[in-house]
This record gives sequence, structure tokens and C-alpha cells, in this order.
Amino acid sequence: MTVDVLLGLQWGDEGKGKIVDYLAPNYDVIARFQGGPNAGHTLYYEGQKLVLHHIPSGILYDNIVNLLGNGMVIDPAGLQAEIEKVAALAIPILERMFIAQKAHLILPTHKILDGAYEAAKGKNKIGSTLRGIGPTYSDKTARNGLRIGDILMDDFQVRYEAAKTKHLRILEQYDYEFDLAPLETAFFEGIECLRKCQIVDGAYFLNERLTKGQKILAEGAQGTLLDINFGTYPYVTSSSTTTSGVCNGLGIAPQRIGEVIGISKAYCTRVGGGPFPTELHDEVGERIRQLGGEFGATTGRPRRCGWIDLPALRYAIMINGVTQLVLTKVDILSSFETIQAGIAYEIDGKASPNMPYDLDRQLPSVLYKEMEGWQSDLSSCRALTDTPQALQNYIEFLERELQVKITLLSIGPNREELIIG
Ligand code: IMP
Repeated sequence: MTVDVLLGLQWGDEGKGKIVDYLAPNYDVIARFQGGPNAGHTLYYEGQKLVLHHIPSGILYDNIVNLLGNGMVIDPAGLQAEIEKVAALAIPILERMFIAQKAHLILPTHKILDGAYEAAKGKNKIGSTLRGIGPTYSDKTARNGLRIGDILMDDFQVRYEAAKTKHLRILEQYDYEFDLAPLETAFFEGIECLRKCQIVDGAYFLNERLTKGQKILAEGAQGTLLDINFGTYPYVTSSSTTTSGVCNGLGIAPQRIGEVIGISKAYCTRVGGGPFPTELHDEVGERIRQLGGEFGATTGRPRRCGWIDLPALRYAIMINGVTQLVLTKVDILSSFETIQAGIAYEIDGKASPNMPYDLDRQLPSVLYKEMEGWQSDLSSCRALTDTPQALQNYIEFLERELQVKITLLSIGPNREELIIG
């Protein structure tokens, strides 16, 4: 049995939650392999909007188990709030959810450090979600982190105090005001809640299930262009958001990876700082933002909007080994007379199909192809052959340019609002 992977190919917010929710019945286990509460995956349950930050998007299904994998960083207070939100929907969350003991803990002082580091960056700030993600992963690689399994050990409090003291010493160097006490209270309440959860060795948990023939879907958070290794560094998150992150974020061997389902919007958005070559600073960008409701699910910040960027997508498809593509929010472009797609960057006067190293220093101009819009409501379409010819032409063009089959088109937030490609 193999592990299928579903991940974002842009700068996050591609609409992964809905697609995981749709595909979930084909799987026994849904596992998050990286990131933490910086993610915001939006689902709809009996007409109610549900935004998940840590909990995998399979949680709404009876016979699926959900794992928060070892590559994740977990905020106990935030997870507790999420557990309570899901439990309020009469979902037996504690039965369906497992947490890898090797996932790292976001401490209250990690959140404060995130704020202090960002403030110190001034105009070069990353636009972090300020959830403590970067400082927690930094402590992990510096071998100073605390892990979920540690909360069950006798010396947890001692180790917590040692980490806190170290962080407070660092904070002395910053002119940054903070109030630790309420964060600590919420943290320790969250730790009590975590102690009631099913804490497991994530690698054995998954590999034993694979051996029994169970099917696993690895659910990505953020997007490929925010990957710590391959994204638009330093404007990235601190984890491996790509397919390789599945192996080290879950303890899955590379040959176990099966389908890699890449998700892209029909256009492109980015929240936070950093280069965005196809960004629109005009009324067209504003129109996409309003029609697409492009405001962050975690922070509420307006997202930057632009046309689809094919050099960036080709790069993401290459890095991840994408085997099928899902195009989301296609309906948002339905009223546009024409649609553009960035097909190459102009670097040193020449068209280049590749993403340059110094994208953050020198934003290249983009060469576009303009296409006719479909200008019709897609809500009754369920197969690509039902859709207007202009949309079919757009899809054929993308498939040709990207050399990957588009298997699904999302045309609305609800589960059934999908077109089979
Ligand atoms: P951090 O992961 O909170 O440190 O944020 C680093 C960068 O990644 C910032 O530009 C954030 O806006 C962005 N980011 C983090 N998580 C998400 C996400 O789930 N969707 C979109 N952008 C994200």
C-alpha cells in the first residue's frame, strides 16, 4: 500500500481542506505532516463553516482516523480550542484523533519570540502568522525543543522552565513588550487537554496500518512556494511543505509515496511579505480578492491576488512529483471577459521558464498569454464536457503547459461543487 499526498503548489490557501474532505472517504487515515496553527483549512459541516488549524481535514468522517504527524508543531492552547469547537458539533474527536509523540510543542515564549523577531525585521518582515512556528522549528533543529511525548514525563515542568528561561534571556535583547502570564495559563490548560488525547509513535502507527493494507492520505499545509528549502526564501514558513516533507514528517519511506495530488487556484494569491511576480495591484486584483473572498482563514489579512503563474507551478510540480492537478476557485473567474496566465519571466531581456534564485531582490516582469473567459455560471456543471468551450480551452492549455492532467475543478465551497476533469 502507498501513501497518497495532497499539497498546495502556490503560497498556501489553495483550498486544500475542501479537496481533502472530498477525497477522504477513499482513505482510512488522514495525516498532517508539517506546519501547525499557521494553517487554516476551511470545511463546511451541515452548512456550518469550520476552520481547522492543527486537526487534519478528515475529522468529519466516522471511519477515518486522523494523525497530527511528527513533523508538526503544536500549540496546546490552540489545539484545545479546536478540539472543543469540533466536539461541539457532536463529533467524537478524541476517538478519531491521534498525535505523534515526536511532534514539537509551541511554547508561550515561542509565540513572543516570533513577535519580537518580526518587529525587529521592520520593513523586511516575513508577515508571519505569529503563531510561534519559526522559533519552535528553530529550537527543534537546534536540539532545544520540547516534544508532545515529553508532557508525559516527570521532568516536563523542569524542562519547560529551562526552555522558558533561555527564551526570556533572548527577549532581553529586544525592545518588545509582552505579557507571558495569560499565555502560560492557556498553555498549561492545553497541556492537560493534550494528556487526554491519544499520543502514539506516529511512524509505527502509520507503517503498521500500511502493512495491514490501509490507505493513507498525507495532507499538506501552506504551499510549495513557502517551503523552507525550495520556497521564496526568506519569505517562507519553517517546515518542508513538499512531498519530501511527507517522508520526514511522518516516517514514511520514499518508495511508499503513491499519487501526488497538487492543488492550485485558477489564479494566485499570497498572504504576508515576499515576491509575487504575477501580483495585480489594480482593480482586477481587487475584483479577484472580493469575488474570491481572499482574506486569510487564520489571520483575516487581505490576500494579495494575481494571475496564475506557470513557471512557479511548473517548478512546484517538478519538486513534488505531482501526478494529478486539482484547480480550485475556477468559479471566481467566471465573470471575467479575458483571463491571463503568466507563461514566462523576462530575465536579462530573455524569456525564462525557470524561477530565479534572487526573486526577492529583483522581481522579473512576466510574459502573459491572454485567453477568452467563459463568462457563464458553472454551478450546474459536473463534467468538463458540460462546461463552456472557453473553459475547456483554458484547461487544455494548462495541461499542455504543465504536462499534468487536471483531474478535478472546484467551483464553490461545498463538497459537491466539483467538476471531474
Ligand atoms: P509563519 O509560518 O507563520 O512563520 O509565516 C511565514 C509566512 O508563511 C508568512 O508569509 C505567512 O503569511 C505564510 N503562511 C504561513 N502559513 C500559511 C498558510 O497556511 N497559508 C498561507 N500563508 C501562510
